[in-house]
Amino acid sequence: MQKIIILDFGSQTTQLIGRRIRELNTYCEIVPYNKMPYDDPDVIGVVLSGSPFSVYDSKAFRTELNRLRGVYPLLGICYGAQFIAREYGGTVEPADSREYGRALLSEVNDADPLMKDIHPGSQVWMSHGDTITSLPEGFMIIASTDQVPIAAFRAPDEKMWGVQFHPEVYHSECGMQILRNFVVDICGSTQSWSAASFIESTVRQLKEQLGDDKVVLGLSGGVDSSVAAVLLNKAIGRNLTCIFVDHGMLRKNEFADVMRDYEGLGLNVIGVDASKKFFADLAGVTEPEKKRKIIGRDFIEVFDEEAHKLSDVKWLGQGTIYPDCIESLSITGTTIKSHHNVGGLPEKMNLKLCEPLRLLFKDEVRAVGRELGMPERLITRHPFPGPGLAVRILGDISPEKVAVLQEADHIFIQGLRDWNLYDKIWQAGTILLPVQSVGVMGDERTYERAVALRAVTSTDAMTADWAHLPYDFLAEVSNKIINKVRGVNRVTYDISSKPPATIEWE
Ligand code: XMP
Repeated sequence: MQKIIILDFGSQTTQLIGRRIRELNTYCEIVPYNKMPYDDPDVIGVVLSGSPFSVYDSKAFRTELNRLRGVYPLLGICYGAQFIAREYGGTVEPADSREYGRALLSEVNDADPLMKDIHPGSQVWMSHGDTITSLPEGFMIIASTDQVPIAAFRAPDEKMWGVQFHPEVYHSECGMQILRNFVVDICGSTQSWSAASFIESTVRQLKEQLGDDKVVLGLSGGVDSSVAAVLLNKAIGRNLTCIFVDHGMLRKNEFADVMRDYEGLGLNVIGVDASKKFFADLAGVTEPEKKRKIIGRDFIEVFDEEAHKLSDVKWLGQGTIYPDCIESLSITGTTIKSHHNVGGLPEKMNLKLCEPLRLLFKDEVRAVGRELGMPERLITRHPFPGPGLAVRILGDISPEKVAVLQEADHIFIQGLRDWNLYDKIWQAGTILLPVQSVGVMGDERTYERAVALRAVTSTDAMTADWAHLPYDFLAEVSNKIINKVRGVNRVTYDISSKPPATIEWE
């Protein structure tokens, strides 16, 4: 399968380059700057990402350009462009005025294949403190802005380009066209990567990899584990057993609703109500990390016990997705961890790991789910933390508190759906606060609990902004919660962004 390699020099937008190339129905992989797969015959082009470093910094990441040059079409973005320019004799210097944000292309050589259909006046997104002040001999300028004469360049008679702006960010209006020009016209992508082709090839590979082996997979109700299960089910049918553990801190009716969805999908699911065990172990515990540890440990115990009732299981299926696996770069050094959804399980159970979604971005997981015919409500469900409402009840947890929170949360989430707001936000939830406040209902003084509503917009949960929900909507939800949920007499709305706050309160 054709692929583009993105060499990661540590920029925050590297993943975005990957997503944009995938949007062009072209498979790509992000690898650390020093891990180029030179032996891979499927590589059709290489992109060099941006970086937090300056090229003249002694610690700056470097790659062996001479091993790439002339072998693959190359596109350097920001630092990548400066790196190419400097390696071959150009000059990169701190810019007089740092360039951040919008800029307009003032001149464009649209005879150049990278600049095909790009016009002066197009908006691009700049983000760099350095600028290329002179190009290597023979290199040509192919686009400029008023501030940056060398906004884009190419090497003569060979397939090597650099752009100092970021075509991958959505604010670069012509960015997608530039990436298309590179990926499709220059590298020759046949644009055959799609959800359907992914399903076909993955099912084939899973059949080969697993043969008659048995697989166990933990379902959470979330989109990733659900899509992984349906894909595995398509490949190996009854040899897949799924386990869905109810720890008692799911949303209102969620266990029953999701079990019904799973059964409708033909999955072989064992639902385990382990809420008593979780509540008993959590009684009196207030410290957030301790709660998480107890829930993680109990989950592994319950899962392990259930899995041991099955005979002959060799594999643990997981819904790990690409952003969880990309080896990201830290500024000081090289590799970071790879993440497992259920840390510790494979080792404890002595199972091999099978992660069929490990190459997909979240939006691609959703596309695969749709292609597999899964219900929309499973596919578009908001992310929900593994420990569930336990991290949304500040302080100690009891079944009674969970019941109060479930009711309030249900009104909020149903309201978002009724007002057509649910799909516009990344994630929403309700938090039960450990405070009581005075109120008045009818003629009576009340002294009851407060809840906070939290709704955020985000693309990856790394950063998030509070959602600017309409006042009328908030008023309606607040009224309903206070009138209908016994024990709550005050509703607040959380207007903190991440950073410095986090999405969850605990
Ligand atoms: P924070 O609160 O760190 O959350 O801004 C970022 C995203 O991660 C989810 N989250 C969790 N997911 N186990 C999970 O499976 C957890 O312990 C956990 N804590 C936070 C959170 O809902 C958000 O989507």
